[in-house]
Amino acid sequence: TTEETLVLIKPDGVARGLTGAILARIEAKGYALVDIRLVEPDRARLERHYAEHEGKPFYEPLLEFMMSGPSVAIRLAGNRVIEGFRSLAGTTDPTTAAPGTIRGDFGRDWGLKVQQNLVHGSDSPESAGRELGIWFS
Ligand code: CMP
Repeated sequence: TTEETLVLIKPDGVARGLTGAILARIEAKGYALVDIRLVEPDRARLERHYAEHEGKPFYEPLLEFMMSGPSVAIRLAGNRVIEGFRSLAGTTDPTTAAPGTIRGDFGRDWGLKVQQNLVHGSDSPESAGRELGIWFS
């Protein structure tokens, strides 16, 4: 059955001019762009999005990073797209993410307090529903 996920091209991806390259991989995989917009999230929106990480050492740097510039928010649809996009993205740490993935090919560790790992993808149907409501309300 078709499902939907929230994909974000984070501020580092937009600032580095990688939006087109990342979208090309998503489109080449065959997923459907249902909606797409450029968003400059305020703190309240990010606190909702990252509620599960509140209190972790990278939480404040993460919010600062996500407020440092616009992100591209995408409502993406397809069979098993939640799992499929996370596979395209690669693992969280861009240094060790597999080559061939978005993070593995374009990302690295810049020595900052937060992983600037180019993209976000929802991790479950429940997260996807919640996060799509936050970014496409
Ligand atoms: P994301 O999938 O958007 O979800 C939480 C984000 O926090 C993650 O991508 C990274 O940008 C960041 N992150 C997760 N774990 C760490 C960590 N151990 N150190 C720094 N940043 C992290």
